[in-house]
Amino acid sequence: MAYSDKLMDHYENPRNVGSFDKDDTSVATGMVGAPACGDVMKLQIKVDHNGIIEDAKFKTYGCGSAIASSSLVTEWLKGRTLDQALDIKNTAIADELALPPVKIHCSILAEDAIKAAVADYRSRHDAAPEVQQAAP
Ligand code: FES
Ligand code: FES
Repeated sequence: MAYSDKLMDHYENPRNVGSFDKDDTSVATGMVGAPACGDVMKLQIKVDHNGIIEDAKFKTYGCGSAIASSSLVTEWLKGRTLDQALDIKNTAIADELALPPVKIHCSILAEDAIKAAVADYRSRHDAAPEVQQAAP
C-alpha cells in the first residue's frame, strides 16, 4: 500500500507529541478508542481566556495513520475556537493525508478525539462551581 508524502511526514515527524498538566484548568482531554482495531488516541487542548485553542498535544497508541491524523489535527486546532474545532471533519483529515479506504477509521478516531476534548472542556467549565450572586 502506498502512503502519501504528507502522511509519511506526519508519521515520521509527528508534531506536538506529549501531554499537558491535566490539573491545569485551561486544559481538556479527549481519550478515544477505535473498536475496529483497539487503537487509542489521547488529545489535549489548551484554551486561552478568549476561548481560543492556543496549543494542542497528543499521544496515540496505534497505527501510522492514526498517529499522522492526530499530528495533523494538533496543527489544525491551534488558533481555533471550540466551535471551529468541531468543524474539523474526518473527511478533511483523510483527504489531506490521502488515507486509503481501510484507514478511514483512523481519521474518524481523530475527529472523535476532538469532539471528546471539546466536550470535556465544556463539561468542566459549565460545571465549574460558581458563586451565586443575589440580585441587587
Ligand atoms: Fe494495529 Fe491500528 S490496527 S495499530
Ligand atoms: Fe485503527 Fe488506524 S488502524 S486507528
